[in-house]
Amino acid sequence: MAPSVADRETLSNNDVIANLKKEVKGPSYPFYFPYFDVGEKFPPTEIFEHTDPGTRADPAKPHLLGPNTKTQDISPYLGTEVSGVQISQLSPEGLDELALYAAERKVLAFRDQDFKDLSPERQIEIARHFGPIQKHPTSGNVKGYPEFHVVYRDADHDRFREYLGEDRANRTSWHSDVSYEKQTPGTTFFFILDQPESGSGGDTLFLSQVEAYKRLSPEFQRRLEDLRAVHSAVPQADHSRKRGGPVRREPVETEHPVVRVHPVTGEKALYVNQGFTKRIVGFKTEESEYLLKFLFDHISKGADFHIRATYKPGTVVVWDNRVTAHSATGDFDKVVRRHAVRLTPQAEVPIAG
Ligand SMILES: [Fe+2]
Repeated sequence: MAPSVADRETLSNNDVIANLKKEVKGPSYPFYFPYFDVGEKFPPTEIFEHTDPGTRADPAKPHLLGPNTKTQDISPYLGTEVSGVQISQLSPEGLDELALYAAERKVLAFRDQDFKDLSPERQIEIARHFGPIQKHPTSGNVKGYPEFHVVYRDADHDRFREYLGEDRANRTSWHSDVSYEKQTPGTTFFFILDQPESGSGGDTLFLSQVEAYKRLSPEFQRRLEDLRAVHSAVPQADHSRKRGGPVRREPVETEHPVVRVHPVTGEKALYVNQGFTKRIVGFKTEESEYLLKFLFDHISKGADFHIRATYKPGTVVVWDNRVTAHSATGDFDKVVRRHAVRLTPQAEVPIAG
């Protein structure tokens, strides 16, 4: 048993760490331990036709939200906790409704799921309902299953220090996943395997890019709607190369509209993120830096359109990458293991607002 919060107050930090180390065991799901093969190579991503499953959904969602389903919104703008439904049991119609619900609420936290115990083939099959799954060019995956993007941290693997460096005053890093792809992710799945105890950190921060857009003045919105920005995979590839990691696909740079329209809800969302958006097309360097700094500040300071998604054993968080940005929270004890897997279906080429 880990010491309780009360116990921790009476123990020195070193005692707590020693206690935790004593209990250290391997990951609960070693199959998903991150796998890096520097020899693994993928061809360039190809363009495909995409019809979003949410366009086929019954707005009443009878195949998703049954009589035993409980839902609780986390905030007015985004985020809903869902219990009493198993994603693994949903029919194709139910999965279509899941796409619509994720688009509407932007982030869904499904509790008590058996998803982590399904076969990898079945996990991939469910996610593939929403689009071809992105195979990540640099992150840990699973041998033979490059569709899995593994997030892993324990006492020996401090990914926050690796990715952000040691010189950051905070560990927040807002981004929309792999936004450098020509067809960026839509309905995205993230299932937890090992997590800090409840209240001990490791939440994911999410924000609504729809609400971020709505907060701007009509004049400013109109100006943004004409703009495009470059999203780059180059820094991520360089970082991986530098640490001896794989670069499985040559990094791409892609232009996307600064304001995009969701194909199902019709909502307009800001589509820039600090992780991958590098410059505004047609602007001089200083103009581009000035505008992007404003937009990054705007979305990161809008705590009134942010939420935290929390994890318990069995939680699967489903979010729509087109209308949100997110950040990991590096607030948990270094010796605690956090292990999760993402399945990242790609969707349409972003539609300009
Ligand atoms: Fe992410």
